[in-house]
Amino acid sequence: MFSSGSQQKKVGVIGVGAIGGAVCKALQGGIDGFTLHGVSDPALKQDFNVPNLTQDDLIAQCDLIVEALPPSAAQDLARKCLAARRDMIMISACALLTAPDILDQARVSESRIIVPSGALTGIDGVSSMKNLGIISASIASTKKPLAYAGAPYITDNNIDLDNITEKTQIFAGNALEAAKGFPANLNVAATLSLAGIGAENTGVEIWADPDIAGNCHEITVKGEFSTMTARVENTPDPQNPKSSMLAAQSIIATLRNASASLVVL
Ligand SMILES: NC(=O)c1ccc[n+]([C@@H]2O[C@H](COP(=O)([O-])OP(=O)(O)OC[C@H]3O[C@@H](n4cnc5c(N)ncnc54)[C@H](O)[C@@H]3O)[C@@H](O)[C@H]2O)c1
Repeated sequence: MFSSGSQQKKVGVIGVGAIGGAVCKALQGGIDGFTLHGVSDPALKQDFNVPNLTQDDLIAQCDLIVEALPPSAAQDLARKCLAARRDMIMISACALLTAPDILDQARVSESRIIVPSGALTGIDGVSSMKNLGIISASIASTKKPLAYAGAPYITDNNIDLDNITEKTQIFAGNALEAAKGFPANLNVAATLSLAGIGAENTGVEIWADPDIAGNCHEITVKGEFSTMTARVENTPDPQNPKSSMLAAQSIIATLRNASASLVVL
């Protein structure tokens, strides 16, 4: 975990939609050690009374960048932050699986990429279990059919989401395949794989269920000394039903933990 130190750190939020907007609001409501310095979003719809700068200018002026972009734009931003030696909180975890050069760059960079737990629960347990060796890790995600609209896997396989009338499995594979097929929907699988045993070893099932109320994720992780199941059902974010309300809160919790006198991980 990065530390906020004794001085206020300037935060720049890049991508101010459902998640970025919630983070800006929380920063302006007060998070010890951090101030919202500016945002970057060419289609900004929410006014936080801070400058809306280019990505390059915001990176240059801030200590910490929060990424809340469409996945297609997140990879370039990660490369820019690492090159400029800026720490970055990255919510588009899928983008890290499909661009392994970013993790290579991070290993030799003086700055860090922090991936929050996002819409997932149980990541604390995965990190602890990893010390003793994880034998297997898998995730099953269930959302309403139309939450997957526009995903490359859906279009490539001509899946008719409108005609799914009961709970149906639409994908089975590993986290790397899921990141390619569902880059905006399966960040949770990417997060699990990054915390655990890697993208190719993390099993993923994707289900569409017209009757489910929220976005549901269940992870099962087996180690030599522990077996863990964690399940969460999240309310979709009204501003972007592909996202969950919990995702923005995981960024806010990461920021609060950075300056808290007691941190429970
Ligand atoms: N890790 C997780 O568990 C998790 C959960 C939900 C969403 N996500 C990911 O978080 C990201 C943000 O989600 P969201 O719901 O806030 O999306 P959103 O569509 O509501 O917001 C994205 C914002 O980025 C802006 N934008 C687009 N291109 C830009 C650019 N080049 N520079 C600056 N801004 C740009 C858009 O105008 C928009 O305001 C997505 O990649 C999503 O897949 C991750």
